[in-house]
Amino acid sequence: MSHESTYVPKSALAKWFESRLPIAGMVHSSFIAYPVPRNLNYFWTFGAILSFMLIAQIVTGVFLAMHYVSDSKLAFESVESIMRDVNYGWLLRYLHANGASMFFIAVYIHIFRGMYYGSYKAPREILWILGVVIFVLMMATAFMGYVLPWGQMSFWGATVITNLFSAIPVVGDTIVSLLWGGYSVGNPTLNRFFALHYLLPFMIAGVVGLHVWALHVVGQNNPAGIPIKTAKDAVPFTPYATIKDLFATVLFMMFFAWFVFYLPNYLGHSDNYIPADPAVTPAHIVPEWYFLPFYAILRAIPDKLGGVLAMGGAIVVLAFLPWLDTSRVRSAAYRPLYRQFFWIFVIVCLLLGWLGAKPAEGGYVIASQICTALYFAYFLVVLPLLGLFETPKPLPTSILESVTKAKGGSGIPAGAAAAPSTKG
Ligand code: HEM
Repeated sequence: MSHESTYVPKSALAKWFESRLPIAGMVHSSFIAYPVPRNLNYFWTFGAILSFMLIAQIVTGVFLAMHYVSDSKLAFESVESIMRDVNYGWLLRYLHANGASMFFIAVYIHIFRGMYYGSYKAPREILWILGVVIFVLMMATAFMGYVLPWGQMSFWGATVITNLFSAIPVVGDTIVSLLWGGYSVGNPTLNRFFALHYLLPFMIAGVVGLHVWALHVVGQNNPAGIPIKTAKDAVPFTPYATIKDLFATVLFMMFFAWFVFYLPNYLGHSDNYIPADPAVTPAHIVPEWYFLPFYAILRAIPDKLGGVLAMGGAIVVLAFLPWLDTSRVRSAAYRPLYRQFFWIFVIVCLLLGWLGAKPAEGGYVIASQICTALYFAYFLVVLPLLGLFETPKPLPTSILESVTKAKGGSGIPAGAAAAPSTKG
């Protein structure tokens, strides 16, 4: 981490250990003394919420795997047995299945927060790109997890999505056979999906480590989008951010619990309680809600390869955001035009999500095409041009000023003197 540790080991044992593995110093400089901008709002608690969700998914997943059987003849039954026979198995499964949805709710808020406040701009490009890598890994993990119960939606969802790879010229069919481990989705497919579904969360954990490392090198952005300049712009991570993150995580857990205990199947599809049957295709094959905007983009293009490219492009374009946005001002709070386009973009994404759940026919297809065009226009036309033409509002001279002026106060808020020194 970039900050010199001010940690002083108290006991002789701690001193001995620290000189061999300075882990306590690292934790101290990253999560205790680490200076955070004093104006962070609750949108900055979602990183902590996501970290909590990742751990929750891994823990519940490991326990589920003790009872799950990844054999196409037994998978569905084993999930039913988890629900009925295993002690608190229903709780484990509902936590894990709804946890995936909660994870995506949190990650979408986290991404839109980054977009609104321009957190992807220099020097946070690598931090942002690591985020996009995490997002792709999350999608792969969730997709493969949904296949494991081997219900109708599992089987047909897997069939539709794996088939997309066949659109790739020359090597497409070979890739699909490799994914299937045969000539159709079947037992080998289920086994490799289970192996990868178990592996990928640990890869996500590794990339999250890099993500947080990069964050600690460049420091956090903030609602004003200007850097920390003096000690008065910041507060120490502990107790300020620690307590706020904990509080937000507990609130989020209550929201999560509401789904687990009152609406455990609301976010899933009832067809997945029917065992997979290769001979019966469901009337509508729909992915989980968090994939719907991308699914709408896929189906908006009448050509298979075109659809796959558009869907992939919709994700890849995110990685180029730091260079597509030409404005020197980060935060939407000081970009009146950008703010409006941002909210239009949010509405377009929600509309795409709604359209993804509708049958691909008539007006729905036309609406999906319009929204797909608007989605790409935001990245490829609006953001590059807006930075050149928009006149931003004057930026505050410091983070401290942005807080005191916004609140109508004039003096230095209590606690400012306690702020640690920063590298500015
Ligand atoms: C498992 C998923 C993820 C975890 C655990 C995670 C964790 C974190 C944490 C702990 C922070 C600092 C606190 C905060 O700003 O909320 C953070 C910041 C950030 N994350 Fe993530 N993140 C995840 C996914 C993503 C994704 C998918 C993106 C973007 C595509 C992303 C982009 C960012 C950016 C740009 C920041 C800096 C924000 C700022 O300082 O304004 N993260 N992340």
